[in-house]
Amino acid sequence: MKNKNVAIVGATGAVGREFVGCIESRGIPLKSLKLLASARSAGQKQKFRGEELTIEELNGNSFDGVDIALFSAGSGISKQYAPIAVKAGAVVVDNSSAFRTDPAIPLVVPEINARRIKDHNGIIANPNCAAITTLVPLWPVHQVNPVRRLIVSTYQAASGGGAALMEELELSTRAYLDGKTYAPKVVKYPYAFNLFSHNTAIDMATGYNDEETKVIREAKKIFEDETMAVSATCIRVPVLRAHSVSMTFECERPIEPSEVRALLEKAPGVKLVDDWANNYFPMPIDASGQGDVLAGRIRKDLSDATGRSISIFVAADQLLKGAALNAVQIAELL
Ligand code: A2P
Repeated sequence: MKNKNVAIVGATGAVGREFVGCIESRGIPLKSLKLLASARSAGQKQKFRGEELTIEELNGNSFDGVDIALFSAGSGISKQYAPIAVKAGAVVVDNSSAFRTDPAIPLVVPEINARRIKDHNGIIANPNCAAITTLVPLWPVHQVNPVRRLIVSTYQAASGGGAALMEELELSTRAYLDGKTYAPKVVKYPYAFNLFSHNTAIDMATGYNDEETKVIREAKKIFEDETMAVSATCIRVPVLRAHSVSMTFECERPIEPSEVRALLEKAPGVKLVDDWANNYFPMPIDASGQGDVLAGRIRKDLSDATGRSISIFVAADQLLKGAALNAVQIAELL
């Protein structure tokens, strides 16, 4: 990427800051880096490789000369500015949900469907964070013994709701411990020492919230298998930045936990954490700040007498593999 001019849209946000961090920590050579945010942040300074970069306000001319634009400023901004960036000649890697279900736009997890990157017409969508966390460890199994049915329960961190929700978790926890009342500002519910159904809109016809619908739709699109049955329950938990997922999947043929363990041991992007003797399994605290999906608790689903179902528990850093790292990996492949 050493000849590339890169722009980050939403550079001051929870994911935007990690875009910068991933570019730094992966030592990606760039020609230039432009940091874009709202008028509120314009003029602020942000460090990049020891240099102070000035945040610029996003506008219609921001993409002149830009080769790759990484977006994470919400769907509305992506819908408005991604076409402008493409027109200016940039390739957009978009972390929002704006384009994910568009059949003409690739939805990419490099460990699964990197080959789809070349089909882009200027935009590549980065999947939902809970979907990435679920699918990276499931893909190696699906390739050897197709998953016919998948039931997912998530334990999602504050970071998925952006920097403001992370701050709400910290402030409400501090207030709770100080015996003070805290009026929630970002979500409608008390967050400290609590959990709640994912704070996205409920579809009144099905009862599923938007996050659950995203996981279901994106799993089918990324695996290119509309026949795979998927159900999800998405829950927000008081964890700062790593999502965990409990999943049970039913395969086409009988499958042993030992087969799944052997597959996950060598799966790209997965780290096995499955220490039965010490009751040590994936935890958000271990997943935070590193790039792999931690996978463990690999066991037979005892409710399926046919022997085709397995339960596992996984955890991954929502801001890294769930968002910024996945997008930066896509940019590297571009
Ligand atoms: P700003 O900090 O200037 O508001 P998060 O996902 O953590 O909530 O971050 C959202 C990101 O999107 C921030 O960088 C935020 O910038 C940016 N953003 C929000 N609204 C706009 C806008 N109208 N134009 C450009 N960037 C925006």
